Amino acid sequence: MSLVEKALEKMRGQAARPMRLAASEAVYGQVALTGATRAAHGTPERIVVIDQDALRAAGLLPPAKQARQIAEEYRQIKRPLIANALGRGATKLQNAHVIMMASAMPAEGKTFTSINLAFSMASEKDVTVLLVDADVAKPHISRLLGLDKERGLLDALQDPTLDVESLVLPTDVPGLSVLPAGKWSENATELLASQRMQQIVAGISRFDANRIALFDSPPLLLTTESRALSQVVGQIVMVVCANKSPQKVVLDAISQLGEHRCVSLVLNQSVANPTSNYYYYGYGYGQAREGAGNA
Ligand SMILES: Nc1ncnc2c1ncn2[C@@H]1O[C@H](COP(=O)(O)OP(=O)(O)O)[C@@H](O)[C@H]1O
Ligand SMILES: [Mg+2]
Repeated sequence: MSLVEKALEKMRGQAARPMRLAASEAVYGQVALTGATRAAHGTPERIVVIDQDALRAAGLLPPAKQARQIAEEYRQIKRPLIANALGRGATKLQNAHVIMMASAMPAEGKTFTSINLAFSMASEKDVTVLLVDADVAKPHISRLLGLDKERGLLDALQDPTLDVESLVLPTDVPGLSVLPAGKWSENATELLASQRMQQIVAGISRFDANRIALFDSPPLLLTTESRALSQVVGQIVMVVCANKSPQKVVLDAISQLGEHRCVSLVLNQSVANPTSNYYYYGYGYGQAREGAGNA
């Protein structure tokens, strides 16, 4: 039985957990200017204030009553990712500190996983987290945090004179900063596949050896940007939505990753309950392994 088959098997046996989803999407962050801290260039440093209650109400963070349990599950998910990122894993991986959240199709939980993993990792003493909105065509995180008009990744890719660090926004969550998607370009795929992208990825831990970048991304089977992105990151977290992602679709998506060295599975379960307004979610974790692209 392949890794994916085993993972799906395990997922089917898992208990569902209720969670209400917000009907509409609003802005849950705002950029504040603080006079207290000043960036090197003399302008006030801009801090993204993240409204976690509103994110929770929108379904991008778990509701308070499940927060503890889900936090515990994310602890397990992040552990091997951090070990790899800090070079403490069994195998040394190139760019292991750059982690992409991927999935075959939309609405499988890439953004949910990116945000929850980002919060969980940022709470670690040892690491800092840069959450990158690389879903450049549909920049969900940038929109949620009110950063969709901000310059970001695509601007830095288009303009080699632009220092990507100048576009990184600190947040009021200790240890967490954000890089918005930036201005859309028709050449997004080529930009993500460019040498400039490799430079940006390599430079992410230039000033902070313990910095981990989490890249939210578009669906693998519907876009070409995601595939380009997968070639430059060091680790990939493949989000599989139970009862939704057909096995063939998951396998097709994994095969898009080619020979990628480190792919982990997060099993993200969603089952609509026809008798209520609630959706049911839960997830487990399939261990990272080398060569999962061939599973
Ligand atoms: N594990 C989960 N628990 C609760 N809600 C989830 C979970 N995963 C996804 N969701 C919900 O499903 C919806 C789609 O998830 P999202 O992360 O936006 O998908 P994607 O980024 O893959 O398109 C979101 O509204 C989110 O609230
Ligand atoms: Mg998304």
